[in-house]
Amino acid sequence: MKDFYDAFYRALEHSRAYHVFCERVYGKDLGQHGFADVEQLELLLQVTQLRLGQSVLDLGCGDGRIAEYLADRSAAHVSGLDFIPLAVQQAQQRTTAKAERLNFQVGDINHLALPPAAFNLILSIDTIYFSEDYTATLAALKASLKPGGQVAIFYSYGREPWVPVEQFPKDRLPADKTPLAEALWSNGLAFQNWNLTAQDHALALRRKVVLEELKPVFEAEQTMFLYENRLGDSEGIRQAIEDGLHARYLYLAKENSLST
Ligand SMILES: C[S@@+](CC[C@H](N)C(=O)[O-])C[C@H]1O[C@@H](n2cnc3c(N)ncnc32)[C@H](O)[C@@H]1O
Repeated sequence: MKDFYDAFYRALEHSRAYHVFCERVYGKDLGQHGFADVEQLELLLQVTQLRLGQSVLDLGCGDGRIAEYLADRSAAHVSGLDFIPLAVQQAQQRTTAKAERLNFQVGDINHLALPPAAFNLILSIDTIYFSEDYTATLAALKASLKPGGQVAIFYSYGREPWVPVEQFPKDRLPADKTPLAEALWSNGLAFQNWNLTAQDHALALRRKVVLEELKPVFEAEQTMFLYENRLGDSEGIRQAIEDGLHARYLYLAKENSLST
């Protein structure tokens, strides 16, 4: 996994094809490797009411362009954390002029050492999957929230292509039944959610069309691993949604909703 992401962020430094891919699929090139387009980021800004004076942690920030976008849009202070040193370095170098509003550090979602009561919002965009223990990770995140702070998580749950259909627990697809929901409940974190499954399907279709059009550009610059990786996830997600075996949500949990 680390090798893939290291190669991914290395390739993004030069890939014209991936730049155009992101602009056309997500609405803006923010170096995305998740599934949140600009529309979903705007939803996030709207529901969290992120603003000047607030402090945010972006967990799994990659090269920090989403963090920078959110800081620019909201005037909040955003810290990013990722386990790829190259990506963190890219983020730091690109944002030196904005250092009062942005900072980045290397860290591992499975070994978090976060300051207590530090953030108004902790954000995870398609990164909670890398946690080996959702309940433990959410406990660490909760401890790092200021009173009344929020955790926002973009999360997809669905059948992976290699899992036999009959083995996939379809009854866990509703927002209040997913493995993430279970971990939120067990931390005493009540949540709201927004169902983004239809948008996820549209985005998967768009990824495939755009990738096919850009295939010669990926070939010419010898970054076919980017093309293949994104085509694979687009096909898997499209199929799973059409089979009724995949859902995507934005979860928003508030620290002051604690029931334990
Ligand atoms: C699917 S990408 C999402 C990136 C970005 N949030 C987005 O939406 O485009 C996953 C990100 O999590 C990072 N990551 C993976 N495992 C991690 C871990 N154990 N600790 C910290 N970051 C991790 C990867 O380097 C990558 O930047």
